[in-house]
Amino acid sequence: MKTRFKEFNPKKFSFHKDPVLVLEDFWSKEERDTFLAAMAQAEWKKRSEIQATDLAFPNCGDWLKAQIAPTEGSVLLNRMALPCIADYIESFPRIKQRHMGFSYYSYGAGDCLSTHDDTDEQYARMDAVPGQTPQSLPPQRRIAVVSYFHHEWNPDWGGELIVYDSRKKKDGQVRLEVSYCLEPKPGSIVFFTVPRFHRVCRVDPLANEHRRMSIAGWFMTEHYS
Ligand SMILES: [Fe+2]
Repeated sequence: MKTRFKEFNPKKFSFHKDPVLVLEDFWSKEERDTFLAAMAQAEWKKRSEIQATDLAFPNCGDWLKAQIAPTEGSVLLNRMALPCIADYIESFPRIKQRHMGFSYYSYGAGDCLSTHDDTDEQYARMDAVPGQTPQSLPPQRRIAVVSYFHHEWNPDWGGELIVYDSRKKKDGQVRLEVSYCLEPKPGSIVFFTVPRFHRVCRVDPLANEHRRMSIAGWFMTEHYS
């Protein structure tokens, strides 16, 4: 489903029925300014400097990742406190704990994210505790989120989020079909249930110095074994 935030009824929407939700005008220009100012203060790391992302996403350019600031993290969580998210998360049995994790991302010309379904356990473990492999299972990602904070984006600049439907063929192979091709529209937010194959198209050299500034992460659950 794709709609404007002010026209969206989070009580009527169900991720069980519609696994992809796109809300436009989720953030005002002033709110985006606040996030961009916080991003400007952040300590960014290159993809190639982060062991987990370097292994999981080779040849994907050198996008940047940073920890979300506490104030902006709270603003984000308050805005995302939607009944449709809580209902979906709570529909999983035997939940021990609920988790959330969100980061800033900055993609420039040449940067992309190859196709994956957000279930790579090894990556999730290393991402949770960089540099080491914890003994217990990482929380399971249930809803993926990405939201865009740059003020301007031109179709020629690339960087679209492609979301796929996966179908199993008779020979057992998985075939992917594009279900959504979403330009990184300023102020929009995308939610989709995990597992779900997706990728970020390479930002085109035509973007010049423009960067695709986003916050992305997951709502997760940890379960009793
Ligand atoms: Fe992903």
